[in-house]
Amino acid sequence: MIDKATVQKITDAADIVEVVSDYVHLIKRGRNFVGLCPFHNEKTPSFSVNSVRNFCYCFSCKKGGSPVNFIMEKEGLSYHDALLHLAAKYNIKVEEKELSDDERRQLNERESLLVANEWAASRMEKDLKDTDEGRSVGLQYLYQRGVTEEAIKKFRLGYNPDSGHALTDAAKLDAMDLKSLAEVGVLGESQKIPGSYYDRFRGRVIFPVLNASGKVVALGGRDLKGGMAKYINSPESAIYKKSNELYGIFQAKSEIAKQDCCYLVEGYMDVIGMWQAGMENVVASSGTALTDGQIAMIHRFTDNITLIYDGDAAGIKASLRGIDMLLAHKMNVKVLLLPDGHDPDSFARANTPENFRKYVQDHATDIIRFKAQVLLKDVGDDPQKRVAAIQSVVQSLAHIPDKVKRNVYIQECSRILGVSEDVIEGAVEKSRGNVVEQQRRQRQNGEIDRLEQEESNPQPNIAGQTRSSRGGQIIEKYPFYPFERNVVYQCVRYGILDFAEVEFDDGTIDMINVAEYVAEELQADDIWFTFPAFAKTFSRILDLKEDYFNEKVGFNENLEKEKQELLESGYKEIASKDMTMAEIRRAERLLEDRVNEEMAKRRFEFARYFIEQKLSSHSDDDVRRTVTEAINEEQPLSNIYLRNNPVSERKMEVDRMRVLVPRGVLEWKNELLNQRIRSKMKQLDSLREHTDPSEQHKILLEIQSLMEKRGLLGKEMGDRTIGTKIK
Ligand code: UTP
Ligand code: MN
Repeated sequence: MIDKATVQKITDAADIVEVVSDYVHLIKRGRNFVGLCPFHNEKTPSFSVNSVRNFCYCFSCKKGGSPVNFIMEKEGLSYHDALLHLAAKYNIKVEEKELSDDERRQLNERESLLVANEWAASRMEKDLKDTDEGRSVGLQYLYQRGVTEEAIKKFRLGYNPDSGHALTDAAKLDAMDLKSLAEVGVLGESQKIPGSYYDRFRGRVIFPVLNASGKVVALGGRDLKGGMAKYINSPESAIYKKSNELYGIFQAKSEIAKQDCCYLVEGYMDVIGMWQAGMENVVASSGTALTDGQIAMIHRFTDNITLIYDGDAAGIKASLRGIDMLLAHKMNVKVLLLPDGHDPDSFARANTPENFRKYVQDHATDIIRFKAQVLLKDVGDDPQKRVAAIQSVVQSLAHIPDKVKRNVYIQECSRILGVSEDVIEGAVEKSRGNVVEQQRRQRQNGEIDRLEQEESNPQPNIAGQTRSSRGGQIIEKYPFYPFERNVVYQCVRYGILDFAEVEFDDGTIDMINVAEYVAEELQADDIWFTFPAFAKTFSRILDLKEDYFNEKVGFNENLEKEKQELLESGYKEIASKDMTMAEIRRAERLLEDRVNEEMAKRRFEFARYFIEQKLSSHSDDDVRRTVTEAINEEQPLSNIYLRNNPVSERKMEVDRMRVLVPRGVLEWKNELLNQRIRSKMKQLDSLREHTDPSEQHKILLEIQSLMEKRGLLGKEMGDRTIGTKIK
């Protein structure tokens, strides 16, 4: 544990331009720097570094954050280790505080699971090479399948001896935590004798699954004896969400970026076979349908993906699965079918690497063309099947976000399917609307889903449920989530700025800031943030007021000094010139105006960025993430707007805040009223059957009053919206 003062020292010292420059060649552009994004492959720079705000951001892949965030992401480090990394860079001495038991447990949970997996993987790598059984059984099997030494090393393949207790014994000798080993599924706990363990992967060849930063998050074990389960895999755990990982990504990522293309195959052995054939940009979905999370991971490195499947019916079906999702992610998707009976691994072994690569080049087909052809082949003269096939192609076409690209495909599919372009285009445009709406909803749910996983107190593992149904549960659990998010984001941006003067009961007048205004508004209607990460972040923002006032004193003193220096050197310069008295006076007035304007701007920026400076490197994951996302999502004032409005940026920011913050609160309250009205309506419906007129009347009146309230709110919202120039 690093103490608070040292954390402060490190985050103060870490300069975003210096930190990013270790990885990215930066070019100065105005007040900012730009460069090629280190998180995804690109040819034109969309990675921007803001030295004033000490923050970086990629406009394309949307990654970035404070120096700490950047290092966490780039080096795949924990918060703690990222701080150590920066401390080393800036020669800051860190004396780690002894942890309390509780702190140690929390900090160590993930860490200890990773340690357990890493230990098991290394141990089994050794057992493959250094034991007789490993060599004669495991290694023998791999050699027989043509796996090379190089691949064994690269993919860290291993072997778990068949005794059933080899690994358990070794773990005891190494004083490993058996519980952690059991939690990641390396060991199993005996049901008959609790506290007694056995090797879960006994007698299997081991394929470790590394995440993008190279940590062992899971293991796969290949049976060698024709048993029931060909592979057994690690269960989901705090470090392993199956749907978010891709086998081979760590080994492939740089090659994917370099080649600007990713091959997707099904299995462990396929990845290794392709890798040995010189196609290193390959990952496996491990026999399941591709998920959004996996697509997003590939998308960090490239837009181009080629699916490689067996040419049998199952392979064809698999290749058509999930293509709409890929299209929606704006990926260029190709599909390659191997000759029937071959998977990439067997095909690689049956051909020379050159032939394999040539086959891939010659046979990769655009996925939509492929789909149209495949479906049409099945149709025969069955008109109903024909309609279904056309509809299915139309559905895929509707998922292509880019209109130009969509039209090219419409032309082509019209030819393949023998249906006029107009008809297809009409159908596509019609279902496009639905698709967009559906995607909007999914995005919302997906985001909720992700945030939920990142909550401080994770919900019990709801394995097996789909993303969207879990997202739906969050909306059920936090029905105001989108409204809360909007308001908390506004508070991250503007929270410490002055909002209004208020007169208190005792007659004193004080200035409340934006966050306090929000707090009062919410309390007045007895509502508050329910989503834990938002509630926590908002409290931190409210807490900052005191720090702000304390630090402002020192800031203003320095600013005042600087102002005097600027003025003095300005006066001197003016005096050195040959000017009349009147000219001197005018020059001095100009100088003073300019300096005052600069000082006002600096004071404003100090307040405007105070919250993000304080919280974007906060140790709490929820707070740091919420703040980072709020900043990332921020829309800069557009250049056109700035050019056409001869007022300062500062003034426009304040204008914008004055509109957006109250509007956000009103929208939240409006939704609250909507939900209350809906529930009263339901109540009324259920009453009708028993007909109690007085009860009915009472509810009707309540609904009426809620509706009136909503009307007033609506008017207020309208007033707030109309007449502003905010986009
Ligand atoms: P495959 O059956 O194609 O496996 O399943 P493979 O990788 O080609 O293995 P070999 O060549 O038979 O040795 C594809 C993937 O599905 C998952 C594994 O991730 C596998 O690599 N799978 C398959 C399992 O998890 N469990 C199984 O029992 C079978
Ligand atoms: Mn295989």
